Amino acid sequence: MARAADRDPLWYKDAIIYETHVKAFFDANGDGIGDFAGLVQKLDYLEHLGITCLWLLPFFPSPLRDDGYDVADYCGVNPSYGTLADFRRLLEEAHQRGIAVIIELVVNHTSDQHSWFQRARRAPPGSAERDYYVWSDTDQRFKGARIIFTDTERSNWAWDELAGAYYWHRFFSHQPDVNFDNPRVLDEMLGVLRFWADLGVDGFRLDAIPYLVEREGTNCENLPETHTVIRRLRAALDREFSGRMFLAEANQWPWDVRPYFGDGDECHMSFHFPLMPRIFMALRLETAEPILDILGRTPPIPETCQWGLFLRNHDELTLEMVTEEERDYMVLAYARDPHQRLNIGIRRRLAPLVDNGRRRIELLNSLLFSLPGTPILYYGDEIGMGDDVLRPDRDGVRTPMQWTGGQNAGFSGAPATALYSQPITDPVYGHAAVNVEAQLRDPSSLLHWMRNLIRLRKQFQVFGRGTLEFIATSNPKILAYLRRWGEDTVLCVANVSRNIQPVELDLSSFKGATPVEMIGYTGFPKITGERYFLSLVGYGFAWFELRGVRPSGSAAQSR
Ligand code: GLC
Ligand code: CA
Repeated sequence: MARAADRDPLWYKDAIIYETHVKAFFDANGDGIGDFAGLVQKLDYLEHLGITCLWLLPFFPSPLRDDGYDVADYCGVNPSYGTLADFRRLLEEAHQRGIAVIIELVVNHTSDQHSWFQRARRAPPGSAERDYYVWSDTDQRFKGARIIFTDTERSNWAWDELAGAYYWHRFFSHQPDVNFDNPRVLDEMLGVLRFWADLGVDGFRLDAIPYLVEREGTNCENLPETHTVIRRLRAALDREFSGRMFLAEANQWPWDVRPYFGDGDECHMSFHFPLMPRIFMALRLETAEPILDILGRTPPIPETCQWGLFLRNHDELTLEMVTEEERDYMVLAYARDPHQRLNIGIRRRLAPLVDNGRRRIELLNSLLFSLPGTPILYYGDEIGMGDDVLRPDRDGVRTPMQWTGGQNAGFSGAPATALYSQPITDPVYGHAAVNVEAQLRDPSSLLHWMRNLIRLRKQFQVFGRGTLEFIATSNPKILAYLRRWGEDTVLCVANVSRNIQPVELDLSSFKGATPVEMIGYTGFPKITGERYFLSLVGYGFAWFELRGVRPSGSAAQSR
C-alpha cells in the first residue's frame, strides 16, 4: 500500500475492515495463543479474501480481565502475542499487501494495574499524580450516570483501600476512568497516539469515548468537555501525521453520535450502533420499516466522514440503542435462552443468530455492503462460525479461528489443554463442519461468496462514497434504495421476508435507463414511464447498475 502520507486521505471510505484478536487468529509458536507471527502467516488469506484494513483488538500488556481493554501499558505488546518487533513486521507485511492496520486507543480507562493507577493510589490527595484518575470521598457523586456492565457492576464507584477514597469507573471496577480534567492525562494519551502513529499505524478505534468527562447533574455522556478532548487528539493527529483515521466507538443514538464527527475535526468514522439491531429486527418482523426509520433519523455527516457498519463484533449485540419494546422483541426473537443474553444485549455470532440460514447471512451482508458506510467484518463470520453461550462473559464469540477440521481447528499445534480457548466443536458450527480449508475447496461456500461480494464492492466507489435515497415501494417487505456517486447510480433491493415477494418501484426519473444486475451481469428490461416490476425470492436481494442514466439535472426536469 502507498505510505499513509501518499495515499488518498479518504481511503477509509472505500475500505473493507476486518476485525480480529491477535490471540484468536493463528498460533505460530505453538503455545496455544495466537500471535503476531501467526497473523503474518495468515495475511495471504486476508489478502485473498479482499479486505483492505485490519482492525486489531487490544494487544497491549494487560491482566486480561477485560480481554485487553484493561491496558497496563499503552506502549508495549503483551508478550503472549510477541514483541514490538513482531508488531512492526506485521505492519510492514500488511502494508505490502495493501492492507491498512488500525489499533485500539483505550482512552477512557486503564487497568488498575497500570503504573499511573498504582502511583495515583499512593500519591497525596490533590497531587497531579493522584489526579490522573477521578476520586471522591463518597460514592454518591454523578448519580445521573447509568451502569453499563449491568451483569457485574452495581455502582460506578469503587473503594480503594490504599487511597482511602472511591474511584470512578464506567466499566469493570478494575478499569478506573482516567481524569481528563488533568491536562497531564491528555498529554499522556497524545504520547501514546504518537508512539503508534510513528510506527506507521493507519488508524485508531477510540474506545468508549462518550464517557471521557464527568459533570454533576448530567448523565456524564457526550459532554462538551469530552468533545474538546477529542478535538485536541484529532488536531495533533492532523498536525503531525497524514492519512490516519479515527474510528469512534460511541454507542449512542445517531443524533448524539453526529457531534463525534464535529465539523470534520473530531472522528473520521463512527460505528452506526442503532442500525445494527434494526437490521436484525427487520429480518424477524419481515418489514423494512426499522431500517427506514433509523436511517431516516440519521443526520447527514461532513463530507470527509463515514459511518462504520457492522453486523457483529467482539461484544454482545447491544440493545442499548432501541426502545424497551424493541428490546423485548429482540430478546424474544434472538435470545430465548437466557444464556444467550449478556448485560443489555445478546452474545451470539452472526450465523447462529439467523439459524445458520445461508440466504439470511447473504442478505444481511448485502445490506452491510450497500448501505452508506464502510463495512466491518468480524473474523470467522466470513465462514459462518458459531459461538458458545455457556462460556463466561463474551468469550463464546472469541474462540479460535477455524482453519481446518483437524486438531485444534488448525489454529495451533499446542496440546489442546494449552489453548487460550477451545474451538467450537458442536455438530453444526464446529470446526469439523465449518473451516477455511473446506470452504476454500468448495466453490459454493460462504467464504467464496463473501470474497466475490467484497470484490464487487471494491469495483464501485459509489458504495463507499455515494448518497442514499430510499425509493417508496408497493410492498413493505422490500427495502429499495439508490446509491449515487458521480456518473454511477446503483439500485439496491432487498426482500427481508422469507417468501417470494413482488414489488413495483417508481423509477420514472430513470426512464430509458437499463438496470444491469451486478453479480451475474444480467441486463434487465429498460425502465419506462410505468412502475418497474421486480420479484425477489425469500431473503433475496439484488444490486443493479443503472446504465444510460441522464445527468441528474435533466432527469429532474423530465418529471
Ligand atoms: C468497549 C469494548 C468492550 C470493552 C469496553 C470496556 O466497549 O468494545 O469490549 O469491554 O469497551 O473497555
Ligand atoms: Ca503463540
